[in-house]
Amino acid sequence: MSNVFYAPGQQRAAKVNDLFAAIARRYDLLNDLQSFGLHRRWKRRVVKLAAVGPGQSALDVCCGTGDIALALARAGTEVTGLDFSHAMLEIARTRGRKTEAGGRRAQDRSQRSETRNPPSVLRSPVFLQGDAQHLTFPDNSFDAVTVGYGLRNLASWETGLGEMFRVTKPGGRLVVLDFGKPPNALWRAIYFAHLKMTVPLLGWLFCGNADAYAYILESLKHYPAQEGVAAKMRELNLSNVRVINLLGGAMAINYGEKPK
Ligand SMILES: C[S@@+](CC[C@H](N)C(=O)[O-])C[C@H]1O[C@@H](n2cnc3c(N)ncnc32)[C@H](O)[C@@H]1O
Repeated sequence: MSNVFYAPGQQRAAKVNDLFAAIARRYDLLNDLQSFGLHRRWKRRVVKLAAVGPGQSALDVCCGTGDIALALARAGTEVTGLDFSHAMLEIARTRGRKTEAGGRRAQDRSQRSETRNPPSVLRSPVFLQGDAQHLTFPDNSFDAVTVGYGLRNLASWETGLGEMFRVTKPGGRLVVLDFGKPPNALWRAIYFAHLKMTVPLLGWLFCGNADAYAYILESLKHYPAQEGVAAKMRELNLSNVRVINLLGGAMAINYGEKPK
C-alpha cells in the first residue's frame, strides 16, 4: 500500500477519507467478521467507562457508522458524533433515525398497555461532519469524550488526543479504544500475521478491497498504541490513567480523567 498515508497533513487526510468512503457500506459487516463480533463487547466497555447518564453530554470522535455514539445515547445522554467521512455519517444518521423510531414505537406500545413506567424516547445522537484534529467546540464542553479505532487514523494522534482533552469538562472522562501491540512477542507475531493476511483477505472477499484492510497493520506500525497513549495521557496530567488490555493486548482501552 502506498506510503502516502504517512505523508503529513492534507494528503494523508484525503487518502484516509477516500478509504472510508470506499468501505462504508460494508464497514459494519467487516468489523463483525474480523473481530468475531467481539468489537461490540469492547465498545460496551468503552460506554461503561464513559459513565454518562441523563442530563450529561458526550462526544464520540471518528464516530464512523455510529456504534459508540448510539450506545452512549441509549444511556439518555445528549451525544454528538463527529467524523469527516460523509459516507460513514450517512449510515450513522440512518441508524440514529431507526433507533429513535424504534424507541417511539416501544413508548406507544407501553402507553397503549398502560405500563406504569413507559420507556423514555431515545434521542439519536447529533452526527456532525468535522475534523477530530480541529474540534470547533469550546473548551470544557463534554462530560465524556470517546474515540473507537480513530486516533490511529489521524495525521497526528497527539493533536487528536489534545483536542479530546481540551473539550472534556474538568472531572470528565476520556476513553480511547484501538488496536494494540501485545506485550508478548509470540502473541504479537501471531496477531500481526492475522492483520497482515486474514484481515486483508476478508476485506477483499467482502468489500473487494484488500488494501483498505492491509492499512490497519500499516497504521498500527506508525502508532505507539496503548503504552504511548497512556504516556501522553500522563503528560497531559490526566488522573487515574489506565490501560485495559483486551485479548492479551491485541486490543486496548486507554482511560483517563481530566483533573478538576
Ligand atoms: C476505523 S473507523 C472507526 C469508526 C467507529 N468509531 C468504530 O469504532 O467503528 C475510523 C473513522 O475515523 C474517521 N476519521 C479519520 N480521520 C478523521 C479526522 N481527521 N477527523 C474525523 N474523522 C476522521 C474515518 O472517517 C472513519 O469513519
